[in-house]
Amino acid sequence: MEKFYLTTPIYYPSGKWHLGHCYTTVYGDAVARFKRLEGLDVFYLTGTDEHGQKIEKRAADAGVTPKAFVDGLVAEIQSLWRELNVSYTKFIRTTDESHVRAVQNIFKRLYEQGDIYKSKYKGKYCTPCESFWTESQLKDGKCPDCGRDVQDAEEESYFFRLSKYAPRVRELLTKSDYLKPESRVNEMVNNFIDAGLEDIAVSRTSFTWGVPVEFDPGHIVYVWVDALSNYITALGYNGDAPSADMQAYWPADLHLMAKEIVRFHSIIWPAMLMALDLPLPKKVVGHGWLLFGGDKMSKSKGNVVDPFVLKARYGADALRYYLLRAMPFGADGAYTSEALLTRINTDLCNDLGNLVRRTGKMNVQYFNGEISRGQAVSGEDDPVVAQMNALYGEVKAAMDEYKPQRALEKIFDLIGAANKYIDVTKPWALAKEGQTERLREVLYVLNEAVRIAGTLLLPFVPQTAAKIMEGLGLAVPERNKDLAFGKQKAYRTKEIDALFPRLNVEKELDELEKLADKKEEEKVEEKTESAPLITIDDFCRVQLRVAEVLACEKVEKADKLLKLTLKVGDEQRTVVSGIAKYYTPEEMVGKRVVLVANLQPRVMRGIESRGMILCASEGDKLTLVTPESLIGSGAEVC
Ligand code: MSP
Repeated sequence: MEKFYLTTPIYYPSGKWHLGHCYTTVYGDAVARFKRLEGLDVFYLTGTDEHGQKIEKRAADAGVTPKAFVDGLVAEIQSLWRELNVSYTKFIRTTDESHVRAVQNIFKRLYEQGDIYKSKYKGKYCTPCESFWTESQLKDGKCPDCGRDVQDAEEESYFFRLSKYAPRVRELLTKSDYLKPESRVNEMVNNFIDAGLEDIAVSRTSFTWGVPVEFDPGHIVYVWVDALSNYITALGYNGDAPSADMQAYWPADLHLMAKEIVRFHSIIWPAMLMALDLPLPKKVVGHGWLLFGGDKMSKSKGNVVDPFVLKARYGADALRYYLLRAMPFGADGAYTSEALLTRINTDLCNDLGNLVRRTGKMNVQYFNGEISRGQAVSGEDDPVVAQMNALYGEVKAAMDEYKPQRALEKIFDLIGAANKYIDVTKPWALAKEGQTERLREVLYVLNEAVRIAGTLLLPFVPQTAAKIMEGLGLAVPERNKDLAFGKQKAYRTKEIDALFPRLNVEKELDELEKLADKKEEEKVEEKTESAPLITIDDFCRVQLRVAEVLACEKVEKADKLLKLTLKVGDEQRTVVSGIAKYYTPEEMVGKRVVLVANLQPRVMRGIESRGMILCASEGDKLTLVTPESLIGSGAEVC
């Protein structure tokens, strides 16, 4: 049986899932389901990317071990995929023992053959993106990917000889169909390869939550090397020995992802595979972002984008349909609750729902649900029949190019045409006039249209499509076959419930707004409730002192930071604080603040910050915590 290996990104277990996160995985699921219906043996891989400094920090903040921290979040994302009917074959976790061993072996092999070497890293690091940058790659001094502040990083590190593979990677991108859409190829070649591809640091020593380099355990394998390897370790690859799944499924037919991580998949990943002497994946597709008020991340208030909430309210298929239909291939799409609700009403409830409901009702009303070909064929059937006959080819062509939006457009064109066909042929008039044979044929045409559209909808809205088949009295097909007019000779149909209830958009928007407010409140409560209890001894380890602000200035090229000169008793010290949006330097001078005096110093923007000043925050508001009456600087806060 022909094999098809498909992967979606393994997610950071952030716990803040929004609808945008669901896009890649639902998209992958539509492709996986379509290929299975085509008779292919599909291996669909997804999972979680659990290592790195960011997780280590968040776990420490929560007072738990990183593994305990990720376990809960992994269970949550698995339940999200279940809720959305994602039919993955395997869920890999980068904390799986077999993956960890395999990454160690891969690293060792690359080191032994000279593709990895030890040197010193000096540059910048963006912790949220877990990415190294050189000074020249920064955009206005910030991470070019996410726009956030970067930290100075200088450490002994292992390097991967990416530069050695630059010519082959360039050729792969420019001379093959490896990366789609085309626009991303230019971006990669111009911005990264032709700008000079340097060797990359592939180990870190400043934290411990990751895969230790086996032969130098102070070093942790760079998270992207760890993460990208999942595509082969999931198939049992462990550095050299071939595994049965590797032989069966590798190379991947499709790596699907959003555009921001195309760089890793089209430069570092093929170079790693070249170094390992493995065949290269056939295709990388980088899709656009679902935008929330112009942003990839959802920070918007008033728009519920929690997929669990939306799923509970509108069902998995409505969300799947919206995501797959709203996003044109490779481009971004803007999310609004209104657009989601309108799609549900117009496409799913009106167009699809009405066709299925009207046809089903007439089946029962005129022929007791028993439909077969009528004797009176008419030329007026030709256009809709031709459309039915063309549809499978069109959907297949779209899906071969991984374009679910186009496939759905075509399916809904047929649904629209079938609805029009009802209006034109007027079955109720035929019944009144006693034209039974013509009426029978008209209903047969309609049932065929519902069957063909319903079957082709299976990859996109599986539950709805199965219900349509149930209404037609047919088993859910396991293969795309008989997708031409006339292939189903007769029907014994059943009445089914409405596929999608009509939504009152105004009312729903109102409800969603209330839900969004409630979620915000819950978040605040959760933050307060989830803080772990500490002992008085724990608390006493924190030294809080009153400090007077002697001088204050903005930190160059950092919108959020102020540099404060503080008087703490007889001592003076510098503290950098992220309060520039709330206070001007002039306002700060003379204020008495509360300082966490025994924090380890940290370098921010080249300035050593010794301590942290306390603030209270609520939503968008932030205010300094100050002593209620005048008290000398240096006074202890207890
Ligand atoms: N862990 C890495 C991937 C490693 S793959 C070897 C990662 N994780 S992530 O959790 O930050 O994002 C996972 C994926 O979520 C993104 O690649 C993208 O496919 C998807 N999306 C997250 N936000 C999105 C939108 N707003 N819109 C569309 N897709 C989005 O990156």
